[in-house]
Formats: sequence, structure tokens, C-alpha cells
Amino acid sequence: MSDADPGQSREDPATPAADAEYTAGDVREGIPFIGAGPGDPGLLTVTGKRLVEDADLVVHAGSLVNSELLEEFCADAEQVSSIGKDLEELIPLLTEAYEAGRTVVRLHSGDPAVYGAAIEQMDALESEGVPTYFVPGVTSAFAASATLRTQLTLNEVANHVVFTRPQGKTLSEDEDHIGDFVGHGDVTVCIYLGTHAVAETMDRLLDEGHDPDTPVAVVYHASWPDEDVLRGTIGTIGEKVEAAGYRASAMVIIGEAATGAGYERSYLYDGWANRGADGQEAETDD
Ligand SMILES: C[S@@+](CC[C@H](N)C(=O)[O-])C[C@H]1O[C@@H](n2cnc3c(N)ncnc32)[C@H](O)[C@@H]1O
Repeated sequence: MSDADPGQSREDPATPAADAEYTAGDVREGIPFIGAGPGDPGLLTVTGKRLVEDADLVVHAGSLVNSELLEEFCADAEQVSSIGKDLEELIPLLTEAYEAGRTVVRLHSGDPAVYGAAIEQMDALESEGVPTYFVPGVTSAFAASATLRTQLTLNEVANHVVFTRPQGKTLSEDEDHIGDFVGHGDVTVCIYLGTHAVAETMDRLLDEGHDPDTPVAVVYHASWPDEDVLRGTIGTIGEKVEAAGYRASAMVIIGEAATGAGYERSYLYDGWANRGADGQEAETDD
């Protein structure tokens, strides 16, 4: 049970309502859905760490949550992997523990709001009378861009970013928009859940007539000790990923941002930012 803030309990009227707006660092009633970050335990947020340390039961996303994080921050808690468990199993597990007065947290990889299927669990819990809330985390696209020492937005050459996934069991051919995004030319395309399908995805892009020299980077296990980077182009990256044998746990980044090159100097460091009207600060890029 939590010993971080003994003054606050579920019965304590000072405990903020579950539907209150998110405030960093506050103690809330209910089960937090926490972003564990991309792997490195140091990339868990301060609030996430505090909640995980205080937990009696941690239900986590299996191999995508680094076991080092679990060992370092919640070795004494009961730890349950959600892999292979459906909602019919997960919801009673979480509800019963919560109603028994245990401190329960749900740990998702990266940020729970990105390809996390968190909301369906949260809605099911709320319908059982268990309040829930989000604690954001560092999504793997951000860890990958840090690894590549680049920005996902680059002045003039990468004006937009999309988080997407390729067609497969979940997404039909018609719902796969990777070709459209690449076709814009100034969009950084971050592909989740597509490691096993890099070669097929690139082949489709080539068939659609996209420039084979468009840069692509694949970051396997960003921020983990065995992190690996493969660099190439739409024309070459498929073979490199096949040769490396990666079938999961990689971020695929297509576009000029993959190289971090070719950008124009921004207004921010070009004197423009200091020329706001009437002494008001102009909106800047930092
Ligand atoms: C089910 S999704 C979860 C994404 C997660 N919620 C996030 O915000 O990163 C899993 C996919 O995220 C990507 N991913 C997760 N962790 C990663 C990491 N450390 N490095 C690279 N890609 C990662 C991979 O594309 C993987 O297939």
C-alpha cells in the first residue's frame, strides 16, 4: 500500500475527483494508466515512478516494458504481464485488487495513448465503478529521434509528423495511408507495429512510384542496452532489416528527418523572434 501520502485515501474528501483535469504530480483516486516510456528506466516520468514505487500490483505490457524498470522501481509489488490476457481476465483482476484496497497501476509501453488500447480497458473499469486516469510517457518515436540525433520536425523539409502503422490484421489495405503521407514530401512518417513488414511496406512505396532514395531509419529497441540503428532508403532498408532479423520492437522513420540534414535555418535564431509587434513576444519554436 502507498506510504507516499498517508493523508490521502479513497475516503478522503481531499482526494481530487477522478474526472478532474490532469495535474502533474498530483495524487488521484483510481487506477493510473502510466506510460513506462520506451525502455530506459530513466525515461519514466517522475510522477510515473512515484506511482509505480507505491504500487502493490503492477499490471504491465510484458516484454516491451523493460524488466530493469520493474526490478528497480517495484521489485516488492506483485507484477503481472498483460500479454495473452483478454479484457475478460484483465478487468476482474484490476477491479478486484482495487476494491480490496490495493494500490494498482497499469503500465503501458511508451505513451499509453499511442497504439496502447488503454481506453477500452479504462472504459470497462469505469463501468465497473473503478476510476482511471492517464499519466503520459515518452513514446518510442521520441526515443528513436533522440537516438538518431534528429528532430521529427525540421524547418522546411519536415513540417509535419504522423504516427502510423502498416496494413495487416488490424488495418485493411484501404486504411493504410503510409504512401499518402510519404507523398506529401515534407512529412516525417513514424511507423509503429511495422518491424515485421518493413520490406513489404517499402515494396509498396516503390510500386506507387515514391523516390527510392527517400531516407529511412529503423531504430530497434530505442533506449535499451541492445539498441540498434539501421540507415538506408526506401530502396535499401527492407533488405537491411531482413538481414538483421528484426521482426518486432523497432521504429521506422521515413523522410528527411531520418538524416537530420537539409533543413533551413529557423526564424528563431534568425532575429525574427525578437521582432514581435509592440514588445509582445512572438511565438517561437523552442
Ligand atoms: C503496441 S505498440 C506500443 C507503442 C507505445 N505505446 C509507444 O508509445 O511507444 C508497439 C510498437 O511500438 C514501437 N516501439 C515500442 N518500444 C520501442 C522501442 N523502445 N524502440 C523502437 N520501437 C518501439 C514498435 O514499433 C512496436 O511494434
